Amino acid sequence: MEQHLGRGNILFTPSCTAALEIAAMLTVKPGDEVIVPSFTFVTSVSAFTNLGAKPVFCDIREDTLNIDESKIQELVGPRTRAIVAVHYGGISCAMDEIREIADPAGIAVVEDAAQALSGAYKNRPLGTVGDIACFSFHSTKNYHCGEGGAVVVDDPELFHRAEVHREKGTNRKAFFRGQVDKYTWVDRGSSYVPSELNMAFLSSQLEHVNEIRAKRKSIFDRYARSLKVLEDGGHIRLPIVPDECESSYHLFYLLLRDSESRDGLMKHLSDKGIGTTFHYVPLHSSPVGAELHDGRALPVTDRLHSQLLRLPMYPDLEEHDVDLVCQSILEFFDAP
Ligand SMILES: Cc1ncc(COP(=O)(O)O)c(C=O)c1O
Repeated sequence: MEQHLGRGNILFTPSCTAALEIAAMLTVKPGDEVIVPSFTFVTSVSAFTNLGAKPVFCDIREDTLNIDESKIQELVGPRTRAIVAVHYGGISCAMDEIREIADPAGIAVVEDAAQALSGAYKNRPLGTVGDIACFSFHSTKNYHCGEGGAVVVDDPELFHRAEVHREKGTNRKAFFRGQVDKYTWVDRGSSYVPSELNMAFLSSQLEHVNEIRAKRKSIFDRYARSLKVLEDGGHIRLPIVPDECESSYHLFYLLLRDSESRDGLMKHLSDKGIGTTFHYVPLHSSPVGAELHDGRALPVTDRLHSQLLRLPMYPDLEEHDVDLVCQSILEFFDAP
C-alpha cells in the first residue's frame, strides 16, 4: 500500500466505513457541519452524522458525477469542519479547487477513495491529495478481502490520534512501541483493527494491482469503443474522464435519456441474462437524509441518478461477454 501511495501513515481497518468513522472522529464534534455529496454511499455521510454532525448536501458535476466544487463555497459556514470528496467510480474530484476553499478556512478535506485505489489526480495517487483518505477493500471493490478498509492520515499528530481511535480509544499502539508503560482509555474509539486473516488475503491482491487495473481498463475501453455510436446518436452518455484524472476503472456506467429508458434497457438486458444495477438513492431524499437536509434543490443529483445504469465489470469478464453486452444494448436502440 505504501508503494502504491508513495507514502506511509496508513492504518488498515475492517471496512471503509470504519475508516470514515475514524476520519469523523478526527474532524467533527456534535453541531459541526460537513459538506458532502448526496450522490454517494450512505456511510460517506452517516460516519459524520453518527457523531452529531450535520450534513450539508452539495450537488454534483454533470461530467464526473463528483461533488461540484463550484457550489461548495456558498455552503461553507462557521461550523464547517470537513468536505468529503468522494471519487465516484475512481475518477478524482477537482481536488485543487476544493483545497483552495478548504485550506484557508482550516477545513479538512476527506477523500472517500473507497473506489479509487490506483486512480490519480494530476499524477498524484488518489488517497494522497486530501488531509485524510478512506479506502474500501469490500468484495465489490477492485482490490478486496471480503470486508476491509484503510485510512490514510497526512498530519503526524492526527495520525497518532487515528491510531488511538482505531485501538478502541486506548494508547495501546504507544504501549507496543514502548512509549508508555501501560495502556489505558485516552480518547474516543472503537474496534477498528482488521482481522489478520483478511489482511493476508488482501496482501496478495495488492501485489496484483497493476495487472487487475490493466484488465479493468481494457474492459472499460472496449465498452466505450463499442457504445460510442450510441453516444454519437444521442441515445446515451458515456463516462467522462477529465484530462487531469487517471481512473481506477472501478465501474462502467451509461447515462440514459431518462429513467424510463434506463429501466427499459435494464429489463431488456435482464431478459437476456445480463445483470445490471443502478445507484445511489440520493441521500437527501432518503428517510434519514431528508430529515437532516435543509431543503435546497439538488437538480443534477436528482436527474442523473435516475438515468444511470452500471454494466457488468470485473477483471475476469471475457471480451466476448463484453461484446455480447454491447450487442444487446445496440439491439435495444435498434442500432447496427
Ligand atoms: C463511495 C463509498 N464510500 C464508502 C463505502 C463503504 O465501504 P465499506 O463497505 O468498505 O464500508 C463504499 C462501499 O460501497 C463506497 O462505494
